[in-house]
Amino acid sequence: MTQRVLRGRLLTFHREPQSGDDTGAYTYLEDGALLIRDGIIEKTGPFAEVAALAGDAPVTDHRPHLMMAGFIDTHIHFPQVQVIASWGAQLLDWLNNYTFPEETRFASERHSARMAEAFFDQLIAHGTTTAVAFCSVHKTSAEAFFAEAARRNMRMLGGKVLMDRNAPETLRDTPQTGYDETKALIAGWHGKGRNGYVISPRFAITSTPEQMEMAQALAREHPDCHIQTHLSENRDEIAYTAQLYPKARDYLDVYQSYGLLGPKSLLGHAIHLQPREIDALAETGAHPVFCPTSNLFLGSGLFDDAGLRARGMVNGIATDVGAGTSYSMLQTLNEGYKILQLQGQALHPLRAFHWATRGNACVLGLEDRIGTLAPGSEADVIVLNARSTPAMALRMERAESLAEELFVLQMMGDDRAVEAVYVSGVPATPVPDRQAAANR
Ligand code: GUN
Ligand code: ZN
Repeated sequence: MTQRVLRGRLLTFHREPQSGDDTGAYTYLEDGALLIRDGIIEKTGPFAEVAALAGDAPVTDHRPHLMMAGFIDTHIHFPQVQVIASWGAQLLDWLNNYTFPEETRFASERHSARMAEAFFDQLIAHGTTTAVAFCSVHKTSAEAFFAEAARRNMRMLGGKVLMDRNAPETLRDTPQTGYDETKALIAGWHGKGRNGYVISPRFAITSTPEQMEMAQALAREHPDCHIQTHLSENRDEIAYTAQLYPKARDYLDVYQSYGLLGPKSLLGHAIHLQPREIDALAETGAHPVFCPTSNLFLGSGLFDDAGLRARGMVNGIATDVGAGTSYSMLQTLNEGYKILQLQGQALHPLRAFHWATRGNACVLGLEDRIGTLAPGSEADVIVLNARSTPAMALRMERAESLAEELFVLQMMGDDRAVEAVYVSGVPATPVPDRQAAANR
């Protein structure tokens, strides 16, 4: 049995905070601790109580920093690590001119493996311990993604994209090969270790009706897999989708008519929605996913979080790298705050930190395993330092409450604020450190 105690200022959410005063929604301990045994949190509480149970387990003291559950990113593109920060285009040109050419490189096993290592290093460096990722159309890219996740024992979800039209030839599958390769990947990786497979029709424009039928078959045959796609991100995308699916009542109807909507469905962007689409989303329990840095970067539009929440929807929040401009969920919350400000929707820091942790876990139906520091949870833990830059330290001299500290982290924090990351109870080190350690 391996065990350890992590000591620090501890924050964990029990439910979504309804206001800044909703102290029942979370536990905050100035001198808190976790007892971790074999990758699972066994006890959470004041240090004195945890220490009494911990025997001779080694203690790592992270005070004065803040311990919380690792961040969860509910929409990111693994093959876009070298697309991030590509200039000047909106969605369809950005896909055709930058993204598709780059994704063709993932036919190579070697390139996929190298990029997977780099991708997971970035996630860890930014405090993200679970992500839901689109791989490229190539089976090799998903193999590399899951192998790297398994090697690091991370809870990761992902899938190869299904795309059989409107893309370069080397980036297209067929309805049959897309189906067969998805089946093989599910058999090889779904439920293996902490991996989960996500059925991933990229979006309406890149899938024929025949491929959507195959996606429907996959969803029927594997109801325990999540489904991910893109919805109503950009007005030209919506107009083109209407041309390609003339019988669909609206964009959402493409996915709805192929049975792809339910509580395990994640719909990236969901910005420009018609009233019927909002009704249908609410009925099916599918989850819109807000991608703030991406929506600003591509000039896509403003996500109406409050409007969708008022209809009972549980929205995710995500980076959407490489249209997103940062791997940091802190920077994602920063830009999210500003998008919601433009619509008179002030995002309280307590709700923001709930969103990036337990909230996104709820979107995935995984809140009993990740997203909190509750006993029984998997020990994916991050340690944040709100004084990680001189400008933050200066601001923190005048911060008097937990909410103020969280808001400084939200607006000014990035990977420099991430002091430590534990995955399944074990310190996670980026690859260069592991190599340095091996050479020593
Ligand atoms: N729609 C279809 N594919 C993509 C993608 O890779 N990124 C974004 N932002 N939108 C998409
Ligand atoms: Zn995306």
